[in-house]
Amino acid sequence: MNKDISILAIETSCDETACAVVKNGKEVLSNVVSSQINTHSKFGGVIPEVAARLHVENITFVMDEALALAKIPLDEIDGIAVTYGPGLIGCLHIGLQAAKTLCFLHNRPLIGVNHLAGHIYANSFITDFKFPLLSLVVSGGHSELVYMPDEYTFDVIGSTCDDAIGEAYDKVARLLNLGYPGGPIIDNLAKKGELLYDFPIVKVNGKYDFSFSGLKSATIQLLKRLDKDNQSYKIEDIACSFQNAVLTQLVEKAKRSLDDYQVNQFILAGGVAANSRLRQLVQTDLQEIYKDIEMIIPPIWCCTDNAAMIAAAGYVAFKKGLYSDYYLSANPSLSL
Ligand code: KG4
Ligand code: ZN
Repeated sequence: MNKDISILAIETSCDETACAVVKNGKEVLSNVVSSQINTHSKFGGVIPEVAARLHVENITFVMDEALALAKIPLDEIDGIAVTYGPGLIGCLHIGLQAAKTLCFLHNRPLIGVNHLAGHIYANSFITDFKFPLLSLVVSGGHSELVYMPDEYTFDVIGSTCDDAIGEAYDKVARLLNLGYPGGPIIDNLAKKGELLYDFPIVKVNGKYDFSFSGLKSATIQLLKRLDKDNQSYKIEDIACSFQNAVLTQLVEKAKRSLDDYQVNQFILAGGVAANSRLRQLVQTDLQEIYKDIEMIIPPIWCCTDNAAMIAAAGYVAFKKGLYSDYYLSANPSLSL
């Protein structure tokens, strides 16, 4: 009889202190997320030093709660997975030290997990992966097209040349004084707006690469022009036009990759995967064109940062024997 495998995972790469316990990579026994959004929204973005300090204050409470909710003692945990990059170095460091301490005290294997692998494997809670597959990872810090020929094998075929997509949403929201995080706010406003303004078509060299900073500059120019001409405008229309430009580029690059790579599944991942228009475009437009490819859209709860997704990826790494040693360091620019 196969023994159950329980993974405890810790995620502190940005502004969420998170800990989860997941059985056999699928069954979420607990998933505790302590968000710092209320603190950072006052500053219009994440302040790294403040985020790291809050992780220190919260981490033990979050770990205790995750274990209590899972109703499982630490002795029955088989491995401890932790995000070691990419992310904010001071923040990553806190999770990593907590994980190493637990591993040392309880003699359990340490499993370093790439945050982006976690975002992708969040989807394994809703479906079994059928390789080869393509994943579009869109978050506050990343915009990557990833080809996975096999389990836990990542080939990044496209990435952003400048800002990440979520970063572009957040910067434009700040420009419009809308608050932080900007993505969900712009997403909601765009639903009530019209496509009134033209944005430039973005050109980049890499076939599957992205660029978003020009769209942020185009928004600044648009606002200046409207002000100069004394023209009134609705913020909803600007949100709608900006979002359309961003998502048109995203879908165009996704189509290019789907034309070139023979895959069974196309997986959306990351915080921006919560975007209602993007979800619709994948579910309808892309599915209509690529009828034989299964389009997978994560439920909202596992789009933004959480530790269950790190446990899901950590479970696969655990089964492959991909253990880390105590020299594992936080790596803010870790690539897949
Ligand atoms: O994955 P995540 O929680 O953190 C990183 O790994 O970066 O993603 C956070 C990002 C933020 O930039 C936020 O504005 C964006 O995801 N986001 C959205 C939506 N919900 C969150 N962007 C667009 N539309 C949304 N509905
Ligand atoms: Zn993330």
